[in-house]
Amino acid sequence: MIVLKRFYTRSILRHIRYPYRTNATTTQRKPDPFNIEYDPIKQAVIYPSELIIQNKKYPTDSWTNVNGHILSRIGQNLHQQKNHPLYHLTNRLRQHFYQYYDPRKLSPKFSIIDDLRPIVTTEQNFDSICIPADHVSRTKTMNYYINKSTLLRAHTSAHQVDLIRSGLNAFLCIGDVYRRDSIDPTHYPVFHQCEGVQLFNKEELFIENRNVRGDKDYLQIFGSNEHRDATKQEGHTLEAVKLVEASLKKTITDLFKNLFPNAATLNSRWVDATFPFTHPSWEYEIEIDGKWYELLGCGIMEHSVLENSGLSKDHIGWAFGLGLERIAMIMYGIPDIRLFWSNDSGFLSQFAFDDSTRAVRYKPISVYPQCINDLSMWMGKTIIDPSDFHDLVRAIGGDLIEQVVLIDEFYSAKKQRHSQTYRIIYRSMDRTLTKEEINMVHKDIESHCKQQFGVEIR
Ligand code: DAH
Repeated sequence: MIVLKRFYTRSILRHIRYPYRTNATTTQRKPDPFNIEYDPIKQAVIYPSELIIQNKKYPTDSWTNVNGHILSRIGQNLHQQKNHPLYHLTNRLRQHFYQYYDPRKLSPKFSIIDDLRPIVTTEQNFDSICIPADHVSRTKTMNYYINKSTLLRAHTSAHQVDLIRSGLNAFLCIGDVYRRDSIDPTHYPVFHQCEGVQLFNKEELFIENRNVRGDKDYLQIFGSNEHRDATKQEGHTLEAVKLVEASLKKTITDLFKNLFPNAATLNSRWVDATFPFTHPSWEYEIEIDGKWYELLGCGIMEHSVLENSGLSKDHIGWAFGLGLERIAMIMYGIPDIRLFWSNDSGFLSQFAFDDSTRAVRYKPISVYPQCINDLSMWMGKTIIDPSDFHDLVRAIGGDLIEQVVLIDEFYSAKKQRHSQTYRIIYRSMDRTLTKEEINMVHKDIESHCKQQFGVEIR
């Protein structure tokens, strides 16, 4: 009996709400860019005969259950967007894993793939990694199907077999994954995962084997009398499994020591788990402020996954899959998973830095709207240093100032003068500001600028 992952069991019990259901008859809806309509009389979603997603056509059928809101997330690739927290985390994963070096190939051991399209086949998402035909994780209630044989990947494990088949024996695969789920502070139907895989042949696994005097085949990965039990799969020798387990656990422990540098005080634990694609399997948890967080699933890869990848009986490997949002939320103190999708500059500006190893704590942004006012000025004798301008603005606007950004600067040969334009973003932590109130502060800033810097407002 396969024990279900918590994600999967949770969502099956949920009612599925299509967008627009409640207000379909009363409010004007925007036309859906994918031509997906809701028929309020039949109370059903009406799909066109084919969906066009990123310029590719997919026929729809009775399995189709995607919606425009979800489809619009495809291609956003938050993990590739500069200055996004998931981008910094991806950089840190990259920097960490590039440290492992393969002296024979004169290159890093791990290849890092972060741009595979999230539209996959059921073969990739399920069959290739031994998820049985009747497994509950395949249901429509848990996944976004484009049609019976095509879906938005539910995990990055969907690419294991293709990547091994392409010749890789150590890699990370990072990308967006999609699961039908409720939306709350820790669940969102789109999130990001990082899959890790490392394979070993006999020489790589038993480096010491050469030194066993007189019998270099003393240690083996495979044995003919090995049966499956709690510690290993049929065919695997216990010594091989234990060495791969040690490599896996060391790799993951080292990664988290790097991500959470105060790791001396970081408690962690391995919890036995069950996945269709690994055996034995574990989950890794860390303790923060007395609370345990599950960060990843991992294990010794099922040998049939390696067979599906075209390998014969000469390799054994480990795999893990971790959720990026979960880690970023802990790392930066981000309280709500929905913030990752925010275009609010109050959120994004907190992650605008080049060094991804920088330790930052997220400061909550206000729930009240921003108000943006630009200020353009011709410089007097001297050019304003932006930090002086920031000081002046903050001195006048106080806590109403959320951000100050120099958005334009140029020299006019005709006027023989420098120009600067600053964007001032106003926002209160406790109320919606009125236009009049902001204009007063803004005017005040202008007149102080004239006095203090001798500028002319444009
Ligand atoms: N694919 C699993 C999930 O999304 C996570 C996972 C578990 C990945 C174990 C692995 C693994 O590679 O070995 O829940």
